[in-house]
Amino acid sequence: MSLCCLLILVAVIPMTSGTNPGVKVKLTEKGLEYGRQLGMVSIQQKLKSIKVPDISGKQKVSPIGKVRYSLSNMQIVNVGLPKSAVDLVPGTGVKLSIGNAFISLHGNWRVKYLRVIKDRGSFDLNVKGLTISTSIAVKSDETGRPAVSSVNCAATVGSVSIKFHGGASWLYNLFKKFVNKALRNALQKQICPLVANAVSDLNPHLKTLNVLAKVDKYAEIEYSMVSSPTVSKSSIDLSLKGEFYNIGKHREPPFSPAAFYLPPQVNNMLYIGMSAYTANSAGFAYNTAGALSLYITDDMIPQSSPIRLTTRTFGAFIPQIAKRFPGLMMKLLLKTEKAPAVTFEPNNVTIQASAAVTAYAIQPNATLSPLFVLNLETSVSAKVFVSGMRLAGAVTLNKMDLTLRTSYVGDFQVRSLDSILQLVLKVVVIPKVNVQLAKGYPLPAIGKMKLVKTQLQVLKDYMLIGTDVEFTG
Ligand SMILES: *[C@@H]1O[C@H](CO)[C@@H](O)[C@H](O)[C@H]1NC(C)=O
Ligand SMILES: *[C@@H]1O[C@H](CO)[C@@H](O)[C@H](O)[C@H]1NC(C)=O
Repeated sequence: MSLCCLLILVAVIPMTSGTNPGVKVKLTEKGLEYGRQLGMVSIQQKLKSIKVPDISGKQKVSPIGKVRYSLSNMQIVNVGLPKSAVDLVPGTGVKLSIGNAFISLHGNWRVKYLRVIKDRGSFDLNVKGLTISTSIAVKSDETGRPAVSSVNCAATVGSVSIKFHGGASWLYNLFKKFVNKALRNALQKQICPLVANAVSDLNPHLKTLNVLAKVDKYAEIEYSMVSSPTVSKSSIDLSLKGEFYNIGKHREPPFSPAAFYLPPQVNNMLYIGMSAYTANSAGFAYNTAGALSLYITDDMIPQSSPIRLTTRTFGAFIPQIAKRFPGLMMKLLLKTEKAPAVTFEPNNVTIQASAAVTAYAIQPNATLSPLFVLNLETSVSAKVFVSGMRLAGAVTLNKMDLTLRTSYVGDFQVRSLDSILQLVLKVVVIPKVNVQLAKGYPLPAIGKMKLVKTQLQVLKDYMLIGTDVEFTG
């Protein structure tokens, strides 16, 4: 291989692997089983709409002669689907098997023979041993949402039994074969399309996947699928983009998702793995939007604190300030200068943020006189939890490190400001951050999905949410 081709290959590889998802969703057999229960209600409903056409004709019956007959108004009175199963078919989708199903119908019969004799009555039909099997393919539609379709459906009818009410016994033999044939025909023709119908009725629900979930005025999260769902022996796995974007300005962060793998788990219906990439794309989006900045004024500091944002307090550590700006209020501007970095270690979420802190004295005419600029490096620990359909959090300060970037008031010992800045972080900045984090970030969701029995674990490079779901309406 020539060098040029090798270089092209090298250039291409990161692009093709750039489709790593930021979020993974695993639907387990338990989840599928819940889906089966919901699905069977819908299939049962559909099968009740089977229409058996009226049957009429003439038939020679000896010794009576020509008999005109009609069977009409056949209505389904009951559909029973006592046995069904869903099985994962690796690489393909899901196989739905319904066995031992039964359908009961009621109808009217009518005959005319020997020119003048008319008779009528009703009948009950029972179809037993009905089996239906279909494969359900799971794919990604053009919007990156899952879509299902029924393929390879087959339905077989077991036995048909008829009970006539009224009429002579020979009628039974006459009708039996017509009814049997008409019924088998109608069922064979209608069952599979109705099942396909019930399956595709799922799609409007799947289309409610929040592929672009709005968070706030700054950010939204993209949850579209980056590749087709994969089906294994024990689960259906979805790969979602899981990327925060600055609203209106979809700028890609200068880093891409690393591959991660959800452990095989079976206790919950659904597992959602959210990577550190997703959290970091949030940091990138908010930082790019300029949302990670805050003016801190004295009124934000509790009255009880002896430390005030005044040139008097700061003057105690930096005499120049007291001398040049006596008796003034102060203001701090805290602004991140690069995206905060989030790391997930087992049971440990840490966020490192670098910010610039600019201190100003507020002149009586409201002009801000800059005093100094500090580099602030902080590390906070985050607790993360699921609240409703959102992922929320709260942080506490681990560590803070200050260095002087610029001073307009001469040299001073930056260390001397540690306690003031610690206080500002603890009583002003972190509570404000926590108010935001408590509002939470939408998780991928479909329709009116409720999470129950939810737990969250922080693992290396991702968080794993295990949950059962309930659909309400
Ligand atoms: C969490 O991880 C960070 C580094 O990633 C480490 O500094 C910190 O000590 C850890 N905290 C705990 C409680 O293990
Ligand atoms: C505000 O007051 C400061 C200090 O007295 C002065 O230097 C500055 O020029 C004033 N600015 C305006 C806009 O009046």
